[in-house]
Amino acid sequence: MNMAARHGGIRKRAGRAFAEQALWWREMLRHPLQTASLAPSSPFLATQIANSLALAEAQVVVELGVGTGSLTQAILPRLRPDASYIGLDRNADLLAVWRKRFPGHRAILGDAADLTALCAEQGIQLGQVCCIVSGLPWPSFPLPLQQQALGAIAAMLRPGGQVVTFGYHIGLMMPSGQRFHRMLPTHFQRVERLPWEWRNLPPAFVVRCTRG
Ligand SMILES: C[S@@+](CC[C@H](N)C(=O)[O-])C[C@H]1O[C@@H](n2cnc3c(N)ncnc32)[C@H](O)[C@@H]1O
Repeated sequence: MNMAARHGGIRKRAGRAFAEQALWWREMLRHPLQTASLAPSSPFLATQIANSLALAEAQVVVELGVGTGSLTQAILPRLRPDASYIGLDRNADLLAVWRKRFPGHRAILGDAADLTALCAEQGIQLGQVCCIVSGLPWPSFPLPLQQQALGAIAAMLRPGGQVVTFGYHIGLMMPSGQRFHRMLPTHFQRVERLPWEWRNLPPAFVVRCTRG
């Protein structure tokens, strides 16, 4: 590849990253509680999350709150060719970016509260999902939404199935965030706090829960 073509490629990637960040800030201003972070997750956090699940053996994988696809980027290459992947987000503008970035993969517009019905429409039944990756902003959710979405995740997972989510320090200080973490052991047999990822903006910790 000659220098001009290489520079053209770098400029194109930088332009795409800038456009994505600009859209993210716009959505953050329009829907602060829903978007709930300063930037899409870093590749470091995405790698930690993807490595914390047995994705290579998974038959059915669901990702909630896909945003522009920072976590998806780490998930998809780890999946078997015959695995089934479905993403979900309630923000149509972020989802449009996701769909352009991952043509040929499925992500649907919808609310995590309706997870079981949305999965059923896609042919995925209760107790069938091996791994769920959640990018949802749990501390922003009111109690009924936390209960509904968490109950739906537990119901969709097969026995031994796992869900991974992440959070920020500020969420741990919010009563709604503390309430969410207290709810986890009531839905899952095992709840593990994985190390902080400091190379994320803001730094994030990862939680992995296993269904009994
Ligand atoms: C903190 S961002 C994470 C985005 C992406 N996973 C990442 O890590 O960069 C939260 C995402 O969850 C989505 N979201 C928030 N509430 C939701 C809900 N009730 N149902 C589905 N998606 C939701 C937002 O639109 C946003 O894309």
